[in-house]
Amino acid sequence: MGGNSETLADAFIKGTEEAGSSAKKICLYDKKIEFCKGCLACQSTEKCVLRDDTEEIIAQMKAADVLVFATPVYFYEMSGQMKTLLDRTNPLFPSEYRFRDIYLLAASADEEPASMDGAVKGLEGWIRCFEQARLSGVVRGTGADKKGEISKCTAALSTAYEMGKHI
Ligand SMILES: Cc1cc2nc3c(=O)[nH]c(=O)nc-3n(C[C@H](O)[C@H](O)[C@H](O)COP(=O)(O)O)c2cc1C
Repeated sequence: MGGNSETLADAFIKGTEEAGSSAKKICLYDKKIEFCKGCLACQSTEKCVLRDDTEEIIAQMKAADVLVFATPVYFYEMSGQMKTLLDRTNPLFPSEYRFRDIYLLAASADEEPASMDGAVKGLEGWIRCFEQARLSGVVRGTGADKKGEISKCTAALSTAYEMGKHI
């Protein structure tokens, strides 16, 4: 809670709201999100057979114009929480989803911008399956190890803010 990736998300949201759009932040850390069972029932029903917090999250994703994912880099990939959610979005695949622009905000301890490449590639794989959507921007909050260190990444924070302002 209040970690580096969430701070990037908050900067993005600030830009969005200042530009007159509304944003809804959904934090996964207190959500119950089970693993996809791979039954594929959702491909005909557009509903998941599992009952947990994902149902509400998917409904909000489906109705959103823009999706913004914020994640810490874990072992040079997106966090498991984010990947587990992406797997559970399979009901959206056959649906009339609205979103087109997708953004990724990531925080890593590593100073190298390439430390985010695994997370970017993972999200690009998801976007490839949602043909009307595109990856419109990536913010790389590098060199943020301990909680709060993202405040040193002023360029990343202002990029997130500007992206939010121009969605
Ligand atoms: C389980 C775990 C794995 C991590 N793996 C990496 C990694 O592979 N590369 C890296 O640069 N940072 C890694 N980190 C550090 C986090 O990415 C970094 O502290 C980030 O700023 C945390 O963001 P948060 O405050 O939003 O959780 C890892 C942290 C944890 C807890």
